[in-house]
Amino acid sequence: MNDEIGAAVRDVLARLTADRARGEPIVSIASADEAIALRALAVPKAGRPIAAVIDDAERVFAHRVRMDHPRFYGFIPSPASPLSLVGEMLASGYNAHAGSWMQSSGPAAIEQGLIAWLAERAGLPDSAGGLFVSGGSMANLTGLMLARDRMLPPGERHRGVAYVSTQTHSSVAKGLGVLGLLPGQIRKVAVDADRRLDVAALAGAVAADRAAGKLPFVVIASCGTTNTGSIDDLHAIADLAGRERLWLHVDGAYGASVALSGSHRALVNGLGRADSLSWDAHKWLFQTYGCGMVLVRDRMHLLESFATSAEYLQDAAAGDDTPNFWDYGVELTRPARAMKLWFTLQVMGARAVGEAIDHGFELAAALEEALRERPHWRIVSPAQLGIVTFRYAPPGRDANALDALNTAIARRMIDDNAGAPLTTRLDDAVVLRACTISPEATVGDIRAMVADLDARAVEMAGAGRQ
Ligand SMILES: Cc1ncc(COP(=O)(O)O)c(C=O)c1O
Repeated sequence: MNDEIGAAVRDVLARLTADRARGEPIVSIASADEAIALRALAVPKAGRPIAAVIDDAERVFAHRVRMDHPRFYGFIPSPASPLSLVGEMLASGYNAHAGSWMQSSGPAAIEQGLIAWLAERAGLPDSAGGLFVSGGSMANLTGLMLARDRMLPPGERHRGVAYVSTQTHSSVAKGLGVLGLLPGQIRKVAVDADRRLDVAALAGAVAADRAAGKLPFVVIASCGTTNTGSIDDLHAIADLAGRERLWLHVDGAYGASVALSGSHRALVNGLGRADSLSWDAHKWLFQTYGCGMVLVRDRMHLLESFATSAEYLQDAAAGDDTPNFWDYGVELTRPARAMKLWFTLQVMGARAVGEAIDHGFELAAALEEALRERPHWRIVSPAQLGIVTFRYAPPGRDANALDALNTAIARRMIDDNAGAPLTTRLDDAVVLRACTISPEATVGDIRAMVADLDARAVEMAGAGRQ
């Protein structure tokens, strides 16, 4: 690396470290004028000094949500460990082509070993395998492709039916669409009071479809729904899937990480019943984006769906224990994504990662408790897997007014840079939702956030009455 590049790397790293300061804006969205200026910046001109371009990059990235901020609780935050950044730098710097054993036998052996370890933690048998993918959407697509290929004869695909719940992540329906299913081939099964897939309703839907000449072939269970963190009854669904000869895909993009927790692992002990399982490392394993895993009960199934052969790939032949990961998934050329998770786990140790996951549970419990202490805050779904949903509901307002009030409270928190729980809809009402998985956030942060929320809610509700 020449001196100029070395200086640029040090400069960027110094800026990245400084940017983690808490005072930075949590949510920054480019205004219309700023977007015009940014688009103009996109167009290449004559070459420029590195330092000037780094300055411009800073201007660009200033407009983003700091998904790793200890007061950001929207969507699924990404409290990425700085260790993941170092692992990412290694993967990106060495730029190994992680498609074949020939091109990257070192990283491929790590990927194999790490996948085997994760599968064992999830409770899958020795036959299991899998690969790193870009995230939960791709993991779901990969698992569902196996379900389609193994359970539906090619000429019968139009008769296939897939079962999700009303709380299943949208990427599942998207993946089924990519695989050629029409919307009418996806059944949205009701959930129970705890927002878990209603297994009796599932059994009824499967029976009705069979009676109508359809071919039920896959059920998608959620381990950690995005809305409330609920975990479907994996054992009951697996039992039903066994009886009905359905493929069981578990979307654990968010919740499967609990398999590494010391204190809460029992919550997810049905994961090992899955035929295929999605698990994101860029959610609750503290990795930078573009890092998820798909695990399957029998790694041969991946080969049967994805094995690739072409004359120009013949020099990179795979062996029994020396896989070409391009035979396991959609991508041919792929980065060595496993390396950053490996790096993080090696430096922190698996136990510390498990403790960081447990911390998310503690914060959510603290949030629920702090809300219960104050008047008019209604808990819509209690702390589950680091997620709480809640609503400010002073008396004398109709449902629409409360929707507007809660939407405005979230907006105001962002405008004041006080914290960012965002909103979702549950039971047809707007609710506030916080996902509290940041290892840097403290119970003090959570209690301060609740005080900030309450102060604004009281003021805004009072103002609304005048
Ligand atoms: C439960 C669940 N499944 C799948 C996904 C999709 O994952 P990704 O955004 O990594 O593609 C998400 C994203 O939040 C999720 O929460």
